[in-house]
Amino acid sequence: MGLLRALSIASFLASNVRAAVSSTGFTVSLTDVDYFLPPKPVASLVGCEEIKSLFHDGLFVPFTVVKADGTLDIASITTSYAKDDVWQEGFLEAIYVLGSNKPANVSTIVLSGTASSELAPGPYFINAAGQVYEAWRLFSDVQGAFTESAIANGDGSYSVLPAGTVGQKQAIAVPSRLYFEKTAEKPLAGVRIGIKDIYDIKGLRTSNGNRAWYWLYAPANNTAPPVQNLIDAGAIIVGKMITSQFANGETATADWVDYHEAFNPRGDGYQDTSSSSSGGGAGAASYAWLDITLGSDTGGSVRGPSQVQGLYGNRPSHGLVSLNHTMPLSPVLDTPGLLARNPTLWMSAAQAMYGPNITITDTYPTKIKTLAWPTSPSKVANKLLIDFLGNVTDFLHANVSAFNVTASFSQDNPNLADLTTIMNLTYALLITKQQTELVRKPFYADYAAKHDGRLPFVNPVPLARWGWGDNQTLTVDEGIANKTVFMNWANKTFLAPSAKTCSDSLVMYVGSTASTTYRNAYLKEPGVPFGWSNSRISIMSEAPDFVVPLGEAPYNSTITGHVEYLPVTANLMAAKGCDGMLFSLIKGLYEAGILKESLAGKSGVTGGEILLRRGLYEY
Ligand SMILES: *[C@@H]1O[C@H](CO)[C@@H](O)[C@H](O)[C@H]1NC(C)=O
Ligand SMILES: *[C@@H]1O[C@H](CO)[C@@H](O)[C@H](O)[C@H]1NC(C)=O
Ligand SMILES: *[C@@H]1O[C@H](CO)[C@@H](O)[C@H](O)[C@H]1NC(C)=O
Ligand SMILES: *[C@@H]1O[C@H](CO)[C@@H](O)[C@H](O)[C@H]1NC(C)=O
Ligand SMILES: *[C@@H]1O[C@H](CO)[C@@H](O)[C@H](O)[C@H]1NC(C)=O
Ligand SMILES: *[C@@H]1O[C@H](CO)[C@@H](O)[C@H](O)[C@H]1NC(C)=O
Ligand SMILES: *[C@@H]1O[C@H](CO)[C@@H](O)[C@H](O)[C@H]1NC(C)=O
Ligand SMILES: *[C@@H]1O[C@H](CO)[C@@H](O)[C@H](O)[C@H]1NC(C)=O
Ligand SMILES: *[C@@H]1O[C@H](CO)[C@@H](O)[C@H](O)[C@H]1NC(C)=O
Ligand SMILES: *[C@@H]1O[C@H](CO)[C@@H](O)[C@H](O)[C@H]1NC(C)=O
Ligand SMILES: *[C@@H]1O[C@H](CO)[C@@H](O)[C@H](O)[C@H]1NC(C)=O
Ligand SMILES: *[C@@H]1O[C@H](CO)[C@@H](O)[C@H](O)[C@H]1NC(C)=O
Repeated sequence: MGLLRALSIASFLASNVRAAVSSTGFTVSLTDVDYFLPPKPVASLVGCEEIKSLFHDGLFVPFTVVKADGTLDIASITTSYAKDDVWQEGFLEAIYVLGSNKPANVSTIVLSGTASSELAPGPYFINAAGQVYEAWRLFSDVQGAFTESAIANGDGSYSVLPAGTVGQKQAIAVPSRLYFEKTAEKPLAGVRIGIKDIYDIKGLRTSNGNRAWYWLYAPANNTAPPVQNLIDAGAIIVGKMITSQFANGETATADWVDYHEAFNPRGDGYQDTSSSSSGGGAGAASYAWLDITLGSDTGGSVRGPSQVQGLYGNRPSHGLVSLNHTMPLSPVLDTPGLLARNPTLWMSAAQAMYGPNITITDTYPTKIKTLAWPTSPSKVANKLLIDFLGNVTDFLHANVSAFNVTASFSQDNPNLADLTTIMNLTYALLITKQQTELVRKPFYADYAAKHDGRLPFVNPVPLARWGWGDNQTLTVDEGIANKTVFMNWANKTFLAPSAKTCSDSLVMYVGSTASTTYRNAYLKEPGVPFGWSNSRISIMSEAPDFVVPLGEAPYNSTITGHVEYLPVTANLMAAKGCDGMLFSLIKGLYEAGILKESLAGKSGVTGGEILLRRGLYEY
């Protein structure tokens, strides 16, 4: 079936010109699998005589482009192509062979003729006119991780995908991985990435997790630099992903009024995703067809979702890439970070996104400082953490010492207040003062101008925070001053730089220990994020803070009445600017078998279908 979109009748009548009809692509079903064919053919097969006999009915015939290296062995092609999640045996209705070795003895139809432009190996569709279209497979976003689907228009802009599939949610289209070969210029060729819906993408509307915002503003005319850097490296942007409203922290389900929180696939499937990069965490943990997601971390919004969903996730050093065309929470604290299952791919994406602003180095610290690390393997989570610390210590031939941040700060700064006093209000003050000025002010003014002085709807959490901020007489500069006191001290002590190893120490703290936050719990009134914890260290010191998955631990689920498993993770920190050292170290730990790739599905360790349903990947 073809999907055609015409200009509205109204503009047709008003202008009294011929309606401009343009193709937005096609959807077809092949052996019960749904595919999307982008509107523009990638080539034509000229002089292909076999085509005529292929078209009994229907608009398209599926075929496979193969490379003939020596003999052509259909069985081995089938075996290797079957690993691709887009290709299927239905594409063997015909083949087109690249190279001069034409096969003498295959049972399928071999297309002759010459392709008008170079075709990459993989699955395609051809029409009776000989036009060749790429095959993109449609997957349903069953976990509700996306706000909008996306498909590149080929001119730097994107459109919403005009296609659907079974699953009660949007369809997301992904191209065959067989089309792509990674190169030095395109290290992310074919890598499928979802983008948190606070980054502008040219041609698409941005919501920032607010429905009024989505409809108030026109589609973006620019693409945010972190996203553009990924696109330039060859990434396939497949859609925009769920964020808690204005990137403030929200907990399912009560806080999420405008949009529903995405679903965390781990364990019983009804645990909170953490926020604000909720969709990025849920999507990367749920879908094998999605490789990486771009989130943002102001106060833990990449790290939280990575911890509770057992993913690799980084809060980078502050200021590595411009956040133009990105919604601010607090520019002095905002950072763009990536969530992924595979640490090698995660590092490649980071190199593409941060460019020359990170340097990969492989001379590592030999001091490890731990913050409140467990010492007794009484629980499964503790044993995983203790073993991991032992493995990293051996890997680095390092010395380990426990470090107490608040106690050491007091010891080194006898004339200052406690760290918990200095820092108690700093985060809340910076995010509320900066976001009310940079986001709420223009939003309310633009909305009022359009809607006769009305206020737009805003969720309870951002409203409570902004309201608190309005009452504060402390200024942004005072907040920055307190932050600077901590940053300078950290830079001289446990997060000090080193000429030889980039960071004098590797700092480790506990990420997640399989504790539950059920999404069907009734919550308290929304509050303001006061206080101090280990997760604030990187925020205030501008240092990198990376989450790594270690395994999982059991709990008794009140949903299933059964033992289920949730992720256990650790956080690794280093001096500001040592992101490249951390990425390299984590890749080294992965190659040494100390860290593992996280899997998509119910468990990050064993994979498996999400409890909600069976056969997620069979569609
Ligand atoms: C052609 O393929 C068939 C089936 O794979 C095989 O039995 C036959 O020997 C092959 N013929 C030649 C000439 O290679
Ligand atoms: C994009 O540009 C158009 C034309 O100048 C303008 O009307 C629209 O408001 C712009 N979009 C945004 C989000 O600013
Ligand atoms: C490197 O960081 C600077 C400062 O934030 C920024 O202006 C520049 O665009 C960044 N480079 C890349 C490739 O993003
Ligand atoms: C970001 O915006 C500023 C101000 O418009 C501009 O000077 C700068 O070049 C932009 N940076 C990037 C990387 O787009
Ligand atoms: C570890 O500590 C021991 C004893 O304090 C010391 O002799 C050794 O040099 C240290 N090793 C490293 C790598 O710092
Ligand atoms: C760190 O020291 C403080 C006293 O400043 C103490 O209250 C806290 O329990 C210590 N934390 C750890 C993990 O030992
Ligand atoms: C932090 O500030 C809040 C709000 O003013 C206050 O209720 C709380 O007691 C403070 N905590 C500390 C440790 O100062
Ligand atoms: C800064 O620290 C002082 C204590 O030294 C505290 O009274 C004040 O509330 C803090 N201000 C901010 C903005 O965090
Ligand atoms: C702001 O201060 C006023 C007066 O003290 C108080 O009634 C109100 O509840 C405060 N608002 C918030 C959001 O804290
Ligand atoms: C840390 O201190 C060094 C000097 O030892 C300085 O070069 C660097 O800029 C400082 N970094 C931060 C984050 O303050
Ligand atoms: C689950 O509950 C049973 C019965 O109360 C208990 O024996 C078991 O230790 C619990 N398991 C976990 C992982 O908490
Ligand atoms: C990690 O440490 C545990 C406990 O000492 C050990 O059994 C395991 O072999 C180590 N893993 C690797 C990859 O070295």
